[in-house]
Amino acid sequence: MNTKKKSGFSGSIGFVLAAAGSAVGVGNIWRFPYLVARDGGGLFILVYLCLVLTFGFVLLTTDIAIGRKTGKNAWEAFSSIHPKWGFLGKLTFLVPILIITYYTVIGGWILKYAFTFLLGQGHLAAQNDYFTSFITNPSSSIIFMLLFLAITALIVYRGVEKGIERFSTYAMPVLLVIIVGIAIYSLTLNFTDANGITRTGLQGLGVYLIPNFDGLTFTKFLNIVLDAMSQVFFSLSVSMGIMITYGSYVKKDVNLNTSIAQIEFFDTAVGLIAGLMIIPAVYVFTGMDGMAEGPSLMFVSLPKVFDSMGVAGPIIGSLFFIMILFAALTSSISIMETLVANFMTIFHKERKKTSLQIGTFAAISAIFICLGYNVFYFEYTLPNGVVGQLLDIVDYISNFFLMPLISLFTCVFIGWVVKPKWIAEEMELGNVKFQRKHLYNFMIRYIIPIVMVFLFIKSTGLFI
Ligand code: PFF
Repeated sequence: MNTKKKSGFSGSIGFVLAAAGSAVGVGNIWRFPYLVARDGGGLFILVYLCLVLTFGFVLLTTDIAIGRKTGKNAWEAFSSIHPKWGFLGKLTFLVPILIITYYTVIGGWILKYAFTFLLGQGHLAAQNDYFTSFITNPSSSIIFMLLFLAITALIVYRGVEKGIERFSTYAMPVLLVIIVGIAIYSLTLNFTDANGITRTGLQGLGVYLIPNFDGLTFTKFLNIVLDAMSQVFFSLSVSMGIMITYGSYVKKDVNLNTSIAQIEFFDTAVGLIAGLMIIPAVYVFTGMDGMAEGPSLMFVSLPKVFDSMGVAGPIIGSLFFIMILFAALTSSISIMETLVANFMTIFHKERKKTSLQIGTFAAISAIFICLGYNVFYFEYTLPNGVVGQLLDIVDYISNFFLMPLISLFTCVFIGWVVKPKWIAEEMELGNVKFQRKHLYNFMIRYIIPIVMVFLFIKSTGLFI
C-alpha cells in the first residue's frame, strides 16, 4: 500500500484559484479580445456566453468529477473506470505533452516584453520589426523560453500546496486588480490621428460590445460559433486531462457545483474585462487596422498603443506584461503539473526527480519550436487556411484535432457507457443539489457528441 500522503489543495478557494489560474491565460487576454473584434462584437460575446454555460459547463464538470471520483490522473482514471477505455486516458495525456512544447515559447516572448518595458525600452518594442527580429534570433528566444520554463518547473517542483496553490493565491488577485485598472484607464482614452480623426475609448467600447450584424450570413454565423467553441475548450483548459488532475486533488467535502460555477465565472469575466482593456485602447490609437489576429495583436499592436500613451505608456505597458506573465505562468504550471503527476504514477517516481525530467523534455522540445522561426523555418498551410510554422502545427493538432476527438470519446463514454448518473453521484456528494443536472444529461448524451463529430471532421480539412 502506498502510505505516502497524496498532495492536494487545502480547500475550496485554493482549488478554485489554481483551476482558474489554469483556465485564465493567454487565451483570455489575447485570443478572446481579437475573436470578439473579428466576429461581430457583442454577437460573439452572446454566442460565447451560451456555449460556456452549456458545453463549457458539461466538459468542465465531467473532467473535474472524473478526477475527484477516481482520485487519479487521466492516464489511469479512464482505465480504472472501465478497462476497455484506457486508451482514452493515453490519448488525453497526449494533449499536455504537445501543449508544453509551445506554451513555454509564448511564455518566453511575454517574459522578454515584460523585461523590455520594465527596463524603460517600450519604445523599441513599438517598432515594426522588433517582434520578428526577436523570434528570428535563435539564441534570445531560447534564453527567454528557458527562463520562463525554469520558473514554471520550480513552482511545480515545490508541489501542489506549497507551490501551485500558494502562487495562484497571490497571482490571481494581482492579475485581476491590474486588468480592471487598465480597463478603466482604457475607457478614458482619446486620440486624434494624422488625418484629424478623433477616436475615444467609449467609441471603442461600442466596437467591443454592440452586436454587429453587417453582412451576416448563415456560413459566417457558423464560423462564429466554431470560433467560440474552440475558444471555450482552450480557455477552460478542458479535454486535456488538466482538470482531471486538479480534480483529483480536491477534498471530498468541497461542493463541486459552486467551484465549477466560480471557475466558469472567473474565466469568462477575465476574458470580458481583457476585451474592455484591449479593444478600446487599440481602437483609439490604431483604428480597426490594429485589431489583426494572431501574435501581432499582443506583440505588435499593443506596444504601439502603449508608446502612444505618453508618460503613462511605460507604466501601463509594464503592468500589462507582468499581468499576462502571471496568467501564462499559472497556465503553464497546470500543464507541467499534469505531466509530472501522470509520470509519477506511470513510473512510480517521486515529484522532484520527475519535475526535473519533464523540465528537460520540455526544454528540448521547446528549443525545436523556437528554431522553427529561424534555423528550421518553413511555411505550411493548415487545413483552416492559416499559414504557419512548427508552433502553429503543434497547436493545430492539439486544439483543433485532438480536443474535439477527446471530448467526443469522453461524452460517449460517460453518456452511454458509464451513464451520467455516475457523475451526478459525485456532484451530489454531501447531499448537495447537482445544478443543471438535466441540461448535463441531455448535452452529454446527444448534443456534444454530434457537434464534436462535426468539429473533428472539419478539423481534418478533408470534407468541409
Ligand atoms: N486555458 C489557458 C488559456 O486560456 O490561456 C490555456 C491553456 C492552459 C491551454 C493550459 C492549455 C493548457 F493545458
